[in-house]
Amino acid sequence: MLEIKDLTVEVGGRTVLRDVNLSVMSGYTSVLFGPNGSGKSSLLMTIMGFSEYHVKKGQILFKGEDITHLPMYERAKMGIGIMMQRPPNLVGVKLGDLVRVIEKNTNDLYQLAASLRMEKFLERDVNVGFSGGEIKRSELLQLTAQNPCLYLLDEPESGVDLESIERIGNAIKMLLSGSLGCAGKKSIDGKSALIITHTGQILDYIEADRGYVMCNGTISCSGNPRELLQEIRKRGYEECVKCKIR
Ligand SMILES: Nc1ncnc2c1ncn2[C@@H]1O[C@H](COP(=O)(O)OP(=O)(O)O)[C@@H](O)[C@H]1O
Ligand SMILES: [Mg+2]
Repeated sequence: MLEIKDLTVEVGGRTVLRDVNLSVMSGYTSVLFGPNGSGKSSLLMTIMGFSEYHVKKGQILFKGEDITHLPMYERAKMGIGIMMQRPPNLVGVKLGDLVRVIEKNTNDLYQLAASLRMEKFLERDVNVGFSGGEIKRSELLQLTAQNPCLYLLDEPESGVDLESIERIGNAIKMLLSGSLGCAGKKSIDGKSALIITHTGQILDYIEADRGYVMCNGTISCSGNPRELLQEIRKRGYEECVKCKIR
């Protein structure tokens, strides 16, 4: 589904990613761990195609196609969706209107919103005055409407209270286990996800197949996500730099 080869990226005149290699198979979920400032969000923003992230070297392949230099809307149409760590407030844009633009065929918007307890937010401006958990649920509602093949989720549990983590974790589990085909050209492909987690809490809700640790803008190790998390909890992220790619 996704293959990243030797990716080197600059933002604001700084190199934030160096020679990143990572892949997510069709129907599989990978998690990306790493300390703050290591480049995790930059990687997701680059995959989605945010224009300030300049690819200096390497390639991003999606469903076998080179998307390295495609504009963001093309990537979205092909089936890539993102839940940003800190999405912007959209003053003057109602959440319900945005969801209808994402998916004209959203038959029962109210019911969809109700499944995420967001029905009271449809008439409100996107993210304006939303709490941490409400922002995440708003992002999930938009993703549900988009129905992408590849979910890029940036710290879905951050800034969210424990009760909301459970709701969000279960909603993500539902999204990824959905048997309906996803948007894009090859709709029979299974859904895939690349999920950033600083704390690993999301692993209480979803099954992940592979874990990666990012340190200083590069992948320092990869392996079984639960084993990696155990090591990180025991030794902290300082040790991850020493680990070799398995
Ligand atoms: N637009 C930008 N301009 C300059 N530096 C940036 C920009 N975006 C991110 N960075 C820097 O890139 C580094 C990696 O950031 P980020 O990808 O957000 O890390 P993480 O998500 O792992 O916490 C940080 O040092 C951050 O300050
Ligand atoms: Mg981040």
